[in-house]
Amino acid sequence: MTSTDQSIPVITIDGPSGAGKGSVAQSLARELGYHLLDSGAIYRAAAVHALECEADIEDQNAVLATFESFNPRFEAGNPDDGVQVWLNDQNITGKLRNEDTASAASKIASLPAVRQALLASQRDFQRPPGLIADGRDMGTVVFPDAKLKIFLTASAQERAQRRSKQLKEQGITTTMQRLTQEIQERDTRDSTRSHSPLVAADDAITIDCSELSIEQVVKLILSELK
Ligand code: DC
Repeated sequence: MTSTDQSIPVITIDGPSGAGKGSVAQSLARELGYHLLDSGAIYRAAAVHALECEADIEDQNAVLATFESFNPRFEAGNPDDGVQVWLNDQNITGKLRNEDTASAASKIASLPAVRQALLASQRDFQRPPGLIADGRDMGTVVFPDAKLKIFLTASAQERAQRRSKQLKEQGITTTMQRLTQEIQERDTRDSTRSHSPLVAADDAITIDCSELSIEQVVKLILSELK
């Protein structure tokens, strides 16, 4: 575990899928004028690339081999579209959120050498004036010296409902049963893997946001920061 630059503040937001980390992190970054790292998007982009290379995504060496040609670019898009993700000259933003990508991302995220290989590109996001880092192991592994660590969670049912709404807005329909099952499978894989499992850091503040709005969570975090 390496120490990161203490002079550039980092706030880590970890937690399971669908807990609202993305919206909370975006809102905090806007409020504080900080950079934003969506580490899940890095795992998702790596999964899209590995699938396009037709690698066996459960084979660590095969996935690592695809990293030789993996050069994602994250560009701030217009406020309506958000961050745009590019692989060479292909805009893959639309592919990042589909369920095939999510499932492949979860699989490659369980491979220790893959996680190790993606560490430096995540730490690269720590730039002045500060960083909001959203993920699963931001406070435990990637930024262990973060100034403030938040672990955001919500009930499985609430998270499935939120994901269903998000997908509907993107024109993707799926049943609640399938969605809940996929979320539970991904949670189990993410929290039981031996390398960087999804757990709250010892010094993290846990917030259950099942009954809280994004604005209320952001307010809570800002008051912790003070
Ligand atoms: O947050 P997300 O749903 O976009 O993440 C996609 C997958 O990547 C998910 O299965 C968990 C994994 N992930 C991870 O293992 N570590 C991170 N820091 C971020 C995401």
